[in-house]
Amino acid sequence: MKVKFKAFAQISVVALLAAACTSDPDSSGLEYMPDMYRSPAIEPYVDYGEVRGQENKDFKMRLSAMTPPKYTIPYWGTDSATVHTMLPYWRKAGSAFGQTHGLYANDLSMNPDVDFEYKAAAADLNPIKLVSKEQADKLFEQAKKLYQINCNHCHGEKGDGNGPMVASGAYTGVPDYKNLTIAEGQMFYSIYYGRNMMGSHASLLNKREIWTLVHYIKRFQDANYGMFDENGNRVAATASAPADSTANK
Ligand code: HEC
Repeated sequence: MKVKFKAFAQISVVALLAAACTSDPDSSGLEYMPDMYRSPAIEPYVDYGEVRGQENKDFKMRLSAMTPPKYTIPYWGTDSATVHTMLPYWRKAGSAFGQTHGLYANDLSMNPDVDFEYKAAAADLNPIKLVSKEQADKLFEQAKKLYQINCNHCHGEKGDGNGPMVASGAYTGVPDYKNLTIAEGQMFYSIYYGRNMMGSHASLLNKREIWTLVHYIKRFQDANYGMFDENGNRVAATASAPADSTANK
């Protein structure tokens, strides 16, 4: 009996192997375990509780992707008005930023002029428009919080470059925002990549937050910036404010 079984098993194996062969050179033959050759692609946002009409209650309506770690900066938001500000910043860091600001080599501009991209950034306009008093007030309130956490210690409460770090004598070279003549796109560039003694804030703030702060800096330059009158129109710039090179007035 034992011998017979052995012979049967051997014949079966040979038969199976033979069945796997075909005379077509392009055919892969019979595949016994296709999942091993072609693993099913796991897609992050597919509901695997329902596959080919078969329901699996344990998996139904569950996330197939893992939740991102806490404090992850979203690449893609959900608010359609600001979602484009979540896309990666497309301007490259200046060619020397690898040495001066510790940025990765593949992010660096190929142009030997370290300020080439910075100058080009003058053309970028703030994608967050100020459309109403309510919206602007809310934005400046949020900007104030961001500023107090990230910028105040150097730039100071009045934006005059005399924050506690500077007042203590530990740090110098912080400009008064009123003296800046750069365009808002360049403000964004400098906050994102850093400039001279100021480090990069790319890993601390998302792009929407940086553009929000750009509005806030312009309020320091001009107390009327982002103000609305009772008819809902933007208040004109004060005469002493630095020239505004943008159309975002
Ligand atoms: C560690 C101190 C420090 C912190 C923190 C800091 N800055 Fe600066 N910032 C500086 C210094 C120094 C300069 C002058 C850089 C230079 O030499 O042009 C500067 C310059 C700037 C400029 C002008 C850049 C240009 O292109 O001329 C802007 C705009 C600015 N900072 C905004 C911010 C904002 C917004 C924050 C908070 C998110 C911030 N900074 C945080 C030190 C700081």
